[in-house]
Amino acid sequence: EFHREPKELHLASDGPLGKFDRQQLQRGYQVYKEVCAACHSMNLVSFRDLAALGYNEAEVKAEAASREVPGINPDTGEVTTRKALPTDRFPSPYANETAARAANNNALPPDLSLMTKAREGGAAYVYSLLTGYQNQPAKLLKEFPAAKTPQGLHYNPYFANLNIAMAPPLSDGQVTYADGTQATRDQMAKDVSAFLVWTAEPKLENRHRYGMAVLIFLIIATILGYFSYRNIWAEAK
Ligand code: HEM
Repeated sequence: EFHREPKELHLASDGPLGKFDRQQLQRGYQVYKEVCAACHSMNLVSFRDLAALGYNEAEVKAEAASREVPGINPDTGEVTTRKALPTDRFPSPYANETAARAANNNALPPDLSLMTKAREGGAAYVYSLLTGYQNQPAKLLKEFPAAKTPQGLHYNPYFANLNIAMAPPLSDGQVTYADGTQATRDQMAKDVSAFLVWTAEPKLENRHRYGMAVLIFLIIATILGYFSYRNIWAEAK
C-alpha cells in the first residue's frame, strides 16, 4: 500500500521510432560524473563509448584522464593507480566491496551500467527514485511502528523495501550545466535517467531502425504473397 509505482517519464528514446536526445545524454553524463560516480561504477561502459554522445577524441581522453584506475608499475610490479585511458571502464571509487560497504552503512552501491534494464519500470523507476525521497507518512508509522526508517537509511516509497541506504543524491543547482539548462532536481533526475537508458542499450537507435525496416519488408512480402496466391489460383474453379 505504501510502495509506489514509478511516475511517468517521457524520453526522446521512447517508442518504436525513438532516438536519443544527445544534448540530454551529455547533461546526464555530467550528472553521473559529478554526482553518482562518487559511489557508483559503470563496469560495462568505457570512456571511449562517450564518442557516441558527441565528444571528440581529445574530450574523451580528458574525461578518462580525470579518473584513476588500478594499475601495475611495469618496472617494479608494484600495484598502484594510474590515469584511466579511453579503453578503461568507468571504475568504482572504492578499492573493493568491503570498502564500499564500509562507506555506505553496509549497503553496496550497485553498478549503474544496466540499471534501467535491471529494475522494473526502467528509466522511470530511476527517475522516480531520485525524486521520490520524502518523510514517512504518519499512517505508515501508526499502522507499522516497526517500519520506522532506521538511523542511516532514507524513506523512499519507490524503493522496494521503502528504506534505502542511498541518501538523496540530488538537490537543486547541484551541477552547472554546460548548455545553460536550469539544473533543478527534477531536470537532473530526468537527464541522468535518459543517460542510463543509453548506457544500458547504446545501440537502441539501430534496433529501432532495423525493426522498422523489417516490419515494412514483412508487410510488403505479405501483400506480395497474397496477390501471388490470387494469381496462381485465378483459373481454378
Ligand atoms: C543504490 C542511482 C548517487 C549510494 C542506487 C540505485 C540506483 C542509484 C538506481 C539502486 C536502487 C535499487 O536497488 O533499486 C544513483 C544515481 C545517482 C546516485 C542515478 C546520482 C544521481 C549515489 C551517491 C551515493 C550512492 C552519491 C553515495 C553517497 C548508493 C547506495 C545504494 C544505491 C549505498 C544501495 C542502496 C540500498 O541497497 O539500500 N543508486 N545513485 N548513490 N546508491 Fe545511488
